[in-house]
Amino acid sequence: MVVLLTGGTGFIGSHTAVELVQAGHEVVLIDNYVNSHPDVADRVGHIVGRPVTSLQIDLLDRAGLEAVFAQHRIDGVIHFAGLKAVGESVARPLAYYHNNLTATINLLEAMTAAGVKKLVFSSSATVYRADNPVPYREDYPVGATNPYGWTKVMIEQILRDLVAAEPDWSVMLLRYFNPIGAHPSGVIGEDPNGIPNNLVPFVAQVAAGRLPRVRVFGDDYDTPDGTGVRDYIHVMDLALGHRLALERLDRPGVETYNLGTGAGSSVRQVVAAYQRACGRELPTVVAPRRAGDLPSVYADPSKAAAGLGFRARRGLDEMCADSWRWQCRADGWTVD
Ligand code: WQD
Repeated sequence: MVVLLTGGTGFIGSHTAVELVQAGHEVVLIDNYVNSHPDVADRVGHIVGRPVTSLQIDLLDRAGLEAVFAQHRIDGVIHFAGLKAVGESVARPLAYYHNNLTATINLLEAMTAAGVKKLVFSSSATVYRADNPVPYREDYPVGATNPYGWTKVMIEQILRDLVAAEPDWSVMLLRYFNPIGAHPSGVIGEDPNGIPNNLVPFVAQVAAGRLPRVRVFGDDYDTPDGTGVRDYIHVMDLALGHRLALERLDRPGVETYNLGTGAGSSVRQVVAAYQRACGRELPTVVAPRRAGDLPSVYADPSKAAAGLGFRARRGLDEMCADSWRWQCRADGWTVD
């Protein structure tokens, strides 16, 4: 298939591009580079052994977007593009609703005009109501606690309503848990702007000596060691999940799948795994709980196993080892 990846030079998009090309698909990456770098496309090309098409396009630019469909015979779309910082979304709700919702509607209208009706949407476990029991199942109630999460809930609803109105659309809603790690080559990985909000990129920068210590946001939760538990999934497993979903867009309708391991790891377990990966002790300090954090979040992965034949196979040590290899190379790599 020729697959358009919006947000294609981002963390998940770039790793999915590698997975798709190496499985025989062709990719067209579009991105506005607000939260990624143009050279990521060269890095993807380096890994797959040939150049990949990459265009600077903002989904808010209707004409630019329509030109992409006019110039490329797109068979399907994976929609990654969107602002995704939870804290920033609370401070800038209009920017988040405008950027994430208008961009998505522009994309869907451009797809309709071009007759492209196969879509995989990058959703998130953040759509699940906070009072759901764990492990989360796809039929559990949704409801967010921040504008970022609400944009994901709303886009899922837009897509369900579109499919109800136009049943020839094929849509997959993929709810990610906590994607971490990097491609084993170390050539691409998570490259957040500024001080990372998320745990593993923060720990990686402590390991690299760029940050002084890890702050453990609370150690008095009702969890085995008192620290927050999450379902960390290797970004390459996540990329495989996207390919399997894409290749099952041959049936009309909309399906929702969790992409997680079904296993929870605590903050202290992640720090210990990272210490094994980088071979040094990482200084930590217990800090106050972060507002909005839940004690424990992890997936019931059984529907994706049955419906997509998807199982995340890589464990926490491999995730941290691949993340560390990327962290060590991230600054030094140039396109040869
Ligand atoms: C993980 C655990 C923290 C940082 C977020 C978004 C979610 C999704 C994935 C987009 C928690 C603890 C963290 C730190 C810490 N993103 N922590 N010190 O909050 O589970 O999910 O990213 O879809 O929408 O909410 O991920 O990595 O921020 O936190 O102790 O410096 O690590 O309390 O228990 P989270 P996270």
